[in-house]
Amino acid sequence: MLSEEELIHLAILDIRLENDDDPGDNSGLELSDEIDPVVARIILTGYPPEKMLPGAYSGKVRISFADRITELYLVSKTEGPEAVLKAVKRALKEEFEITPERRIAVLTSGGDSPGMNAAIWAIVRVALDNDIEVLGFQDGYQGLTEDLTYRLTWNFVSDILVQGGTILGTARFPGYEVRDIREKAVENIVRKQISGLIVIGGDGSMKGAQALVQDLEALGRELQVVAIPGTIDNDLWGTDMSLGAASAANAMIEELRNMIRPAQALRRIFVCEVMGHHCGYLALQAALGIGADAVIIPEKVVVCRSRDLTDAGSLKDQIMVVETEDNFRKRLAKTAALLHDAFDAGKRYGFVVLSEGERLLTNERLDAKYVQQYLEDKIKRWPRTNRPDVRAHVLGYPVRGCPPCRFDIWLGARLGAAAVQCLLEDKTDVMVGWSEEEGIIDTPFDEVIKKSSRSPQEMWNDRPKWQELLELQEALACPPQWRQQLKERGNRFVQ
Ligand code: F6P
Repeated sequence: MLSEEELIHLAILDIRLENDDDPGDNSGLELSDEIDPVVARIILTGYPPEKMLPGAYSGKVRISFADRITELYLVSKTEGPEAVLKAVKRALKEEFEITPERRIAVLTSGGDSPGMNAAIWAIVRVALDNDIEVLGFQDGYQGLTEDLTYRLTWNFVSDILVQGGTILGTARFPGYEVRDIREKAVENIVRKQISGLIVIGGDGSMKGAQALVQDLEALGRELQVVAIPGTIDNDLWGTDMSLGAASAANAMIEELRNMIRPAQALRRIFVCEVMGHHCGYLALQAALGIGADAVIIPEKVVVCRSRDLTDAGSLKDQIMVVETEDNFRKRLAKTAALLHDAFDAGKRYGFVVLSEGERLLTNERLDAKYVQQYLEDKIKRWPRTNRPDVRAHVLGYPVRGCPPCRFDIWLGARLGAAAVQCLLEDKTDVMVGWSEEEGIIDTPFDEVIKKSSRSPQEMWNDRPKWQELLELQEALACPPQWRQQLKERGNRFVQ
């Protein structure tokens, strides 16, 4: 069929293609039913307008055919060619808002994150401005294989800018690694004549895009792919901030701030585990944001060795945990001593922020409960009058589902626009990102994937700004008795 070879936006079909005199001949409708629903369809019929369904002649009509509801434009042949032209103009305007020259698609993949919608908003608006039509695949790569598609119009995205999550839905879809399943994705890209794909997600999403490009290349087809870093974890190389990290950090601080009053009233220490996967960025931000006494991040605790990074697979497969519990207990001993001195200096409450990375890298062993028990054991030895109680608390999905903050709306809009710009400039296999020094940048997928798959320590060594933040957190949290020690260790914030 022609629509499988060419980028078709509108099909004009006679209702009867075989026998105009046979009232039972529905061959035109049957053909229309076989055409992809994203193609607008005008059906020409011999019925005069007055004999059609009420409203059917004034625009798009929904009809039930072959047990399905389908939407198309009906035009009466009795009205002459002018009516056909009018319907063509109406269909192009209503369906596309433009006269499209090419078609691209966008999908969100992996964990949702605030700001993804702002990126979709910018992608659609900038693309339409350049006469590019945008389809959205629902539920990430799963929707791409199952052909769950929307047309994203100017108005459709009007109110999504400030919404958290992703209007497209997302999925973690391990099935996508299976080539047979990916073939369906390839078919859909080819059939829909999609020439560019923007994926919003983490490094797994970029690996998915690379696999798709390779599959298409094997068929002699091309696809441009551009990624936008969308993850609250901020664990990607190639951007100083990924979409959602700032909002999630704000939401964490908001939640933790509301725990200060009960902690203070009851002389309590809260051990709070926060999201961030294997990356301590969110924990560090949350700890600074509420003036926590200590922060425990995998970068400083879990000693890992990278495996052969050319192997595909999750980060957990790629890094080998070498040493953890000893380091963890050393860190806890220091935390307990610090809390002791802080309470001695008159503090009434305490916060220890723990990154979930420790638990994830140790098969659920080193978690907030572990820290709680450790501290309780130590506190038993404190003078009776000064003993706080300790509670464990886990901050979960509400911080990921919060609305985007001002920064993430801005970042989403900038990166969405930059991703379309990359497609216009014929770039492919790049992730757009934001650097504090350079503004909007793009980095090849291979580099992003390789450098983001390293062990937490290796990533940490490349993040001097985070190292500085940790020193700041330590300086601000340290009780007076500890200042000299920090100074000797070269903390740049202690004079
Ligand atoms: O990657 C985002 C994230 O929220 C991580 O911080 C967390 O470890 C993970 O997703 C949770 O995954 P899921 O949504 O599949 O439970």
